[in-house]
Amino acid sequence: MTIITKLAILGTLAASVAGQTAITVNVSTQYQHIDGFGFSQAFGRAKEFQNAGSTTQKTALDYLFSTTTGAGFSIIRNRIGSGGSGDSIEPNSPGSPSSSPTYVWDDDDSGQLWFTEQAVSYGVKTIYADAWSAPGFMKTSGSESTSGYLLLVKYVQLYASAGYNITHLGFLNEPDYQVSYSQMQISSNAQEAISFIPVLYNTVKSAGLSVELTCCDAVGWAMQGTYTTALVNAGSTQYLDVITSHSYSADATSPLSQTPLRKWNTEGGPSTAFMTTWYSNGGTSEGFTWANKIAVAMVNAQLSAYLFWEGFEIQQSQSGSHLVDALDGTNPTPSGIFWAFAMWSRYIRPGAHRVATTGTISSVIIGAFQNSDGSVVVVFTNSGTSSQSAKVSFSGFTSGSASAWVTNQGSTFATTSATLSGGAVTVAVPARGVVTVKLVAGDSGTTPSTTTTLATSTVTTT
Ligand SMILES: *[C@@H]1O[C@H](CO)[C@@H](O)[C@H](O)[C@H]1NC(C)=O
Ligand SMILES: *[C@@H]1O[C@H](CO)[C@@H](O)[C@H](O)[C@H]1NC(C)=O
Repeated sequence: MTIITKLAILGTLAASVAGQTAITVNVSTQYQHIDGFGFSQAFGRAKEFQNAGSTTQKTALDYLFSTTTGAGFSIIRNRIGSGGSGDSIEPNSPGSPSSSPTYVWDDDDSGQLWFTEQAVSYGVKTIYADAWSAPGFMKTSGSESTSGYLLLVKYVQLYASAGYNITHLGFLNEPDYQVSYSQMQISSNAQEAISFIPVLYNTVKSAGLSVELTCCDAVGWAMQGTYTTALVNAGSTQYLDVITSHSYSADATSPLSQTPLRKWNTEGGPSTAFMTTWYSNGGTSEGFTWANKIAVAMVNAQLSAYLFWEGFEIQQSQSGSHLVDALDGTNPTPSGIFWAFAMWSRYIRPGAHRVATTGTISSVIIGAFQNSDGSVVVVFTNSGTSSQSAKVSFSGFTSGSASAWVTNQGSTFATTSATLSGGAVTVAVPARGVVTVKLVAGDSGTTPSTTTTLATSTVTTT
């Protein structure tokens, strides 16, 4: 080998080392608690799922809920029906607000009871029940929907009798948007919600339920910000546990720091067709488009949960707002968006905390999390046009082993190299790709403390 060749090789090495960015993850600085990732099977989709052939059904359930081969989703969002018989549990008016309501429970709830049973069998513990509307008879204009809170409590109690804990309860869906189906409006100053929330809170407490209350599932993050300010100013947040928003008119891009309550994106999805494409031209149904949305929401907007609209549907390729479709009628196929979620949801588990990182890589969003079992997960989302290399060191954590997975146009949740040396892990992140690294603690690794310093306040978690 000539000197010139040696110099050329050294030059190449120097260039690749210079191109490698040092990142430090400090697990002692904790940010938001993570509740999980999820979706809904509302409006008949739970029944469609229940009626699917057993192989189709099992394959779709594994995609959605398995933590080894699927996305490991951990939150479901059920719709509290408000239509007539077979939809609402209170289809008929009791006659007056003071009369006792007659509840009708069919042990089915449009397939959602079956769907809940399936989700729970995979380990799902977070069940969000959300009312799109009160039944029509409660909505006489100008009058309070007096029995609305009773119906909500009854719904939670019916699920409890069936053996399922509804953990979160919402009484609104897109109250800033007029549609032709079930919906209920509130003013931009949220005055109707402000008057209803304490009544609902007291009714839930006096019924002995431990369900957490949410508000307001606005169409987009900007309007939810307006509602949240109004709720904070009126003192309503003392009764609430989670601030909820959809991402249709505006994505979650910055924190709603008016309140330290947890924030969830509870619905979103494109209006364009179902696609398995990861990246082509940045279209609204492409996987990488959503990989970026999720990264911005979890890291920049500090969300505790991110829910897509629907999970599984059959032969509905005209819409990209569900994650898995049996396009041929029998074989479930995940969308590109499904894999964007899986890169987060399979390994970042409920009970995790986001933790601090220092160091930046051009065009790369870095999200680091510590699970309650002590493992650390780092997700890199590279929106640039060239591959990047990162060398990640840790403070407060000693890595015993590292594994990494990559998704880009060409690889789907494929294992990729993660080299552990001297306590630091080195990974390459391809252009328009996501790499998820999971590190399991070695001998001197630490488990998370129970006191959490949030960006806006200090809370103690269990
Ligand atoms: C890690 O975070 C803790 C808690 O915020 C802080 O005290 C410590 O200085 C940080 N360590 C490094 C190396 O930045
Ligand atoms: C449901 O909630 C009750 C009371 O909070 C609790 O004791 C029980 O373990 C929960 N069940 C499940 C399946 O999570």
